[in-house]
Amino acid sequence: MTQNEASTLVLFGAKGNLARVKLIPGLFKLDLANKLHPNMKIVSVGRQEESHQDWLTNIQNIIRAKYGDQDLDAAVLERFLSRNIYHANLPDDPEAFKKLSKRIIDEKLSQNLAFFLSVRPSDFANIIDDLAAAGMLDETNNWKRVLIEKPFGYDSQSAAELQTSIEKHLKETQIYRIDHYLGKFALQNILFTRFYNSFLEPIWNKHHIDHIQVTNHETLGVGDRTTFYNATGALRDMMQSHILQTLTLATMEKPTAFSPEDIRAEKIKLLNSIKQIPLDNFENNVFRAQYISGEIKNEGPVKGYLEELGEESLVETYAAVKLFIDNERWRDVPIYLRTAKRLHENATYISIKLKPQKIFNNEFSDNWIIISIQPKESIHIEMKTKVPGLDETKTRKIQLSGGIRMPEDETIDSYETLLLDLIEGNQSRFLHIDEVNAQWRLIDPIIEKWQDKNIPVHNYVAGSTDPIASKIIFENDDQFWRTSINIED
Ligand code: BG6
Repeated sequence: MTQNEASTLVLFGAKGNLARVKLIPGLFKLDLANKLHPNMKIVSVGRQEESHQDWLTNIQNIIRAKYGDQDLDAAVLERFLSRNIYHANLPDDPEAFKKLSKRIIDEKLSQNLAFFLSVRPSDFANIIDDLAAAGMLDETNNWKRVLIEKPFGYDSQSAAELQTSIEKHLKETQIYRIDHYLGKFALQNILFTRFYNSFLEPIWNKHHIDHIQVTNHETLGVGDRTTFYNATGALRDMMQSHILQTLTLATMEKPTAFSPEDIRAEKIKLLNSIKQIPLDNFENNVFRAQYISGEIKNEGPVKGYLEELGEESLVETYAAVKLFIDNERWRDVPIYLRTAKRLHENATYISIKLKPQKIFNNEFSDNWIIISIQPKESIHIEMKTKVPGLDETKTRKIQLSGGIRMPEDETIDSYETLLLDLIEGNQSRFLHIDEVNAQWRLIDPIIEKWQDKNIPVHNYVAGSTDPIASKIIFENDDQFWRTSINIED
């Protein structure tokens, strides 16, 4: 369905990596799928002058680099280019934002304005101040929305400061705080899977579930992002939002309706019911480590984190945390979260271990439900069966496995989904300030505690599986990191 109203997307940071890799190709894909209103325009804002023609050439190069020349529909490319305008907002020009506003009026663009801030986090508040001063956030006659890239603050206090600054100019309904994981199809599918399959809901609770794990492993290292990463670490970079949001969708209550407001309300409730990490038993609840040099499959030998960084650092590239949700459904069920750079595989999945089943004098505990988010979008249920034959005692584990995606299905990048949500005014896949606050509330005490040099930073070899010492956070000896979801295992 094409949008029913015209709008203007104003892209700050248009010359950055995100715009080149995700946003411009994503907008082109939306145009190709006829999702954009005929009068939807894109104003790319950069800090240097650039001619209109050079900008269009740049866009064409980005699109050709991404999609190749072969299947490019010339008419759609033409239509997409005609949507694009470049505007230089020169950093030393005090009139810059007034000129931007005037340009939008002069070009007769829609005053339904969506601002996408793909800029340094330290610039968020200033840009919003400047937009407000130029009258560009006033919703009297048209809507105005601002999308803020992550991270929203680097702890509770900075998030609160940013919020105080921007709420002078914006209502909550105008603020789109992004977590690109919420745009991933497999994440959107979690609620659907849980609530539309009648055999799942009755067992989705403390009576039947032993524990839950949320895993995000990357083979990727820190690369050329050392400055950013060393100021951030795995906990802030991945756990604070992507992983907590994944957990939230797996554990929240059923919303009253599948509306943006109801979904967010249940997510907020869930996040607020997660208990703080007990600081007096910190080492049994939280674990950190850094990769040292090793070898990555298909990549070869790689350096260790400190070698890449060139200095000493306590910053973690592996983080594992145990949490408890203090509500009727989940009380006393351990939740284990882990994330790492430079591990043995690229995989994000939720593993749910069911409680052991006592039958006669035996206890069986081979039931897992695994929801794989990436690279494959799939669901696995592991069961125990008897091995055919005369031996009455022989059993084996089988997996019922289903890929969510069929070869003919559309592949939509998470940024495409979220760009469309922004233009269409759907906030359900964006973070409410209460979610951000609840997330920082859990992460802050850990970060603070980790300033202490006496808390060990363990090592793991790049390309290996989880550091053995991370098992310290398990509640029981028979719990272990669920590492693989391959059917062959
Ligand atoms: C980003 C983090 O938010 O998410 C990166 O800053 C990380 O460090 C990336 O690599 C992972 O995203 P995805 O979609 O590849 O799982």
